[in-house]
Amino acid sequence: MAVPKSTPILIIGGGAFGLSTALHLVQNNYTDITVFEQDEQIPPRYSAANDLNKIVRAEYEDKFYTDLTIEAIKTWKTPLFAPYFHQTGFLHCVSGAAPQKAQETLKRFQDAATSHPTIAPHVVPLNGPGDIRPWFWQCDGPLPGWRGYMNRFDGYAHSGNALAGIYRVTQGAGVKFFLGAQQGGVAEIVYEGGKAVGVRTGDGRFHAAGLVIVAAGAGVGKILPSLGTQIVAKAWSVAHVLLSDEETAALRGIPVTYARDFGFFFEPDPKTNLLKLCPMGGGYINTDRASGVSHSPFPEHLDVVNGFLPAEDEGRIRKLLAQTLPGLAGRPLVKKSLCWFADTKDSDFIVDYVPGSQGSVVVLSGDSGHGFKMFPIVGGWVRDLLEDQQGEQKVSRWRWKEAGGGKEDWGGDVSWRLGESRELRDVLPGRTKL
Ligand SMILES: Cc1cc2nc3c(=O)[nH]c(=O)nc-3n(C[C@H](O)[C@H](O)[C@H](O)COP(=O)(O)OP(=O)(O)OC[C@H]3O[C@@H](n4cnc5c(N)ncnc54)[C@H](O)[C@@H]3O)c2cc1C
Ligand SMILES: *[C@@H]1O[C@H](CO)[C@@H](O)[C@H](O)[C@H]1NC(C)=O
Repeated sequence: MAVPKSTPILIIGGGAFGLSTALHLVQNNYTDITVFEQDEQIPPRYSAANDLNKIVRAEYEDKFYTDLTIEAIKTWKTPLFAPYFHQTGFLHCVSGAAPQKAQETLKRFQDAATSHPTIAPHVVPLNGPGDIRPWFWQCDGPLPGWRGYMNRFDGYAHSGNALAGIYRVTQGAGVKFFLGAQQGGVAEIVYEGGKAVGVRTGDGRFHAAGLVIVAAGAGVGKILPSLGTQIVAKAWSVAHVLLSDEETAALRGIPVTYARDFGFFFEPDPKTNLLKLCPMGGGYINTDRASGVSHSPFPEHLDVVNGFLPAEDEGRIRKLLAQTLPGLAGRPLVKKSLCWFADTKDSDFIVDYVPGSQGSVVVLSGDSGHGFKMFPIVGGWVRDLLEDQQGEQKVSRWRWKEAGGGKEDWGGDVSWRLGESRELRDVLPGRTKL
């Protein structure tokens, strides 16, 4: 049976997936929706989407996600989302020194783009620096051996502003919010006979529910331990260069620029003059030795993790700048952080009822570091699940996964990742204990 629209629905997490769910449910006349977020603000500092920007690129190695992103981009262009979407194009390359794996991944992305009828007209192959400069004339670096393609169908979204905007809209539409560790931090889901009846927050208060939707990002494993190793909390680094007004203005309109072997950067943000950079590597995990499960270090260790950039990542960022915008390569890096997401073995999301919960708990997770582009449509997938008469996830790849057999992390096996993931405790300065 479908979930009745008057059911009290509690959403744990006010990040990308939680807010999108609140939006779609309230737009579809669900009348009793409450969001719990452990930070005091939206965008939450613990959210992977608390950021200036995220790449919105439609071409996936897997056509299933390509088609979803095309649908998402259509929605990014509607009035509610348009203020946050910038179709600057995506300059997707490898440098001349890129390892074979990176070159092959690039080729698969390029093939995906050029073989899709909606995307292909926007794609231009780039066979060297001379082909690249017309798309990024501000680039005065040597671009040694760079090649790849430009895709003008793609761009980026201002993720922090998008969260703030949808927060305002859903609040205005009657969604209730509890924020902060005490009122908004969910300590546990409360069960009776295996069925969730509500949640208990940091202040000890009990909130009754007919349905609990867990959209806790990298924090999901603490709320739903039964996920086990289906989800690995993983982090990538983020850093910024602070520009002058003139530098920001000069770089206005540059495409998202990505060398698969180093990482990527975006058009600077005109409000803060920050140019955001992400180095690309295997990422960092935080495995609990007892359970073998990697958990987010938030909220306890925000201060340990923020302001920190592993040396190898700084090296990649500086190389990327030296080859593209060498005037910035020696500049201080500011607002460094580790951004935590919920990784799955196959990079597939999980949108499903928790087995054994008798239809009382839905998990919305496994963003695998590529979920923000779907922000305008994620909540629609939850609505579809709630409306399903059999209470069944019809998209088999989004079902609850069988617990992984023995191997705790698969980092380097994922085709679009480069390098193995490392334990956070091994790279923190002074090997801080977490
Ligand atoms: C460095 C980096 C770069 C990325 N780049 C891209 C990109 O270019 N393109 C793209 O599409 N995606 C990108 N992503 C992925 C994207 O950010 C995520 O897919 C998206 O934010 C996932 O949304 P979420 O709601 O699942 O998790 P989050 O946005 O992290 O939100 C989870 C929220 O749940 C809250 N929470 C957790 N536990 C509790 C609790 N017990 N009680 C209350 N609240 C709780 C947290 O505080 C947090 O606010 C990137 C991610 C990272 C880390
Ligand atoms: C929601 O309610 C409004 C007003 O009653 C109605 O016009 C609309 O069709 C409803 N939408 C859905 C999806 O049920």
